Amino acid sequence: MSSLEPTAHAAANTARRLIIAIDGPSGAGKSTIGRLLARRMGLLYLDTGAMYRAAALRVIESNASLQDETCVAEICHAAHIELEGDPEALQVKLDGRDVTREIRTEQVGHAASVISTNSQVRRDMVARQRELARSGGVVLDGRDIGTVVFPDADAKFFLTATPEQRAERRFEQDTHRGANTNFEDVLRDINMRDERDANRDDSPLRIADDAVVLDSTEATIDEVLDKMIAVMHERQSENSI
Ligand code: DC
Repeated sequence: MSSLEPTAHAAANTARRLIIAIDGPSGAGKSTIGRLLARRMGLLYLDTGAMYRAAALRVIESNASLQDETCVAEICHAAHIELEGDPEALQVKLDGRDVTREIRTEQVGHAASVISTNSQVRRDMVARQRELARSGGVVLDGRDIGTVVFPDADAKFFLTATPEQRAERRFEQDTHRGANTNFEDVLRDINMRDERDANRDDSPLRIADDAVVLDSTEATIDEVLDKMIAVMHERQSENSI
């Protein structure tokens, strides 16, 4: 079971019913940009990676083996995951407990990457995501939003950057958070996650045919955001959304 609690402001705008998909590899800036885009457009924001992370935390806490597919799927299915609040101050709850910070550790990120290759877990999470976003007015970020979760999304963006640039950003964030890490380890981890995301059998990371690809390697957050807003305005003026 999952729930997504809208703020009054965002709820007022859900009448617009837009569904915006942002996919891309780990560390491309999807969540930062997704949050800002949601705020600028008065939409809700759904961080689907946070759902896989919360489910993974539940599996870690159950002491189950990440490789035991049936057991992992059962644990994930029973986990109650809620995403609440403003796009920029999203709170993640697991079985009623605030796990917003806890799900950002390397251990949970690794476990999320492993359990997200489990087809039963994916089916479960995709069903929850469709249910949470069914009334529209949502920006969703993930790996399979434009290809699997909402193939008919009103706008699809694929946000990417070189592995080195993504590792640099993640390293800075980790250091800022006080984590004891080094650049080479972060880069190795980014490369491993890319490999797993792109090569899993079920819903591998790929660019949807109708996605707008944005490379953030040389661009600032504002530049990427401005491009997205320009695409949205263009589509609105063409009446295609
Ligand atoms: O975006 P993130 O790093 O918080 O995602 C955590 C993991 O979840 C990542 O390894 C890939 C997986 N994931 C996925 O498979 N599909 C999604 N829609 C979102 C995340």
